[in-house]
Amino acid sequence: MKITGKTAVYGIIGYPVKHSLSPLMQTAAFKELSLDAVYVPFEVKPEELKEAVSGLKALSVKGFNITVPHKERVIEHLDFLSEDAEFLGAVNTVKEEEGKLIGYNTDGEGFIRSLKEEGVEVEGKKVLMFGAGGAAKAVGYALLKAGAKFLNVVNRNFQRAKALGELLGKRGNVLIYPLKENTVEVLLKEADVIVNTTSVGMKEGDPYLFDYSKIPKGITVVDIIYNPPETPLLKAAKEKGCKVINGLGMLVHQGAVAFEIWTGKRAPISKMKKVLKEELYGRST
Ligand code: ATR
Repeated sequence: MKITGKTAVYGIIGYPVKHSLSPLMQTAAFKELSLDAVYVPFEVKPEELKEAVSGLKALSVKGFNITVPHKERVIEHLDFLSEDAEFLGAVNTVKEEEGKLIGYNTDGEGFIRSLKEEGVEVEGKKVLMFGAGGAAKAVGYALLKAGAKFLNVVNRNFQRAKALGELLGKRGNVLIYPLKENTVEVLLKEADVIVNTTSVGMKEGDPYLFDYSKIPKGITVVDIIYNPPETPLLKAAKEKGCKVINGLGMLVHQGAVAFEIWTGKRAPISKMKKVLKEELYGRST
């Protein structure tokens, strides 16, 4: 790799940031398109966020991603926000343009593109979503924006579900429910698509969200977890003949949308996916 005085610098800020897969994925994308650009991780402590963002601006860093715990707090240090970022109150991508920093949120768009890639259209669909955290906010918003008929949100902490329901209710038909076996059983019967946005299934020995034997046959089941590639939820759904989609597509496509915002070029999706699969699963298929 040749770095010159003209090389553009991109990066990611987070705390911690060591686990981030974005440097690998974005560097592979730049290389694939022979762009003169690098992408590096920046570990930024919460109390140093302000200095870090003004430093990135002063250094003319062309763009950067934001990860935990800065996605919300970064907003006060930016000049403009996209409509999605404004609504969600969270930014995962920043572009520098003529000395101004513009904040975007590509998580929701990335999620929808990952479904489209698998031939799943959301328009007119009845969706059952588990979770009410940051990921649920972006995913739920994107589902409504893409024309979901309605969104049933189930969460363990009902207060959190309530807050999310109030926000997303501005964008479409949203009902909220507590995470109770008999409630879920009823909701499952009318779902075309089930989406898990909780962290349940990430670790071996995690509890089950609900009784997976109740998943209706042949529907679409999406888990935004990408490691492991097949959570117990997806395994059970597959055994029921459901279409299953894991979170790798969302990870790739949120990065692809960011890449396109920065470069104006179509992202090399298959290359990005390949390097991630090799890194995560030790294989590229
Ligand atoms: P993220 O930004 O990834 O969405 P988060 O905001 O911490 O992370 O949200 C985590 C989600 O996983 C929440 O919906 C959380 O439910 P609570 O709001 O009830 O905490 C959900 N979650 C985590 N562990 C869970 C478990 N054991 N059972 C059910 N839900 C769980």
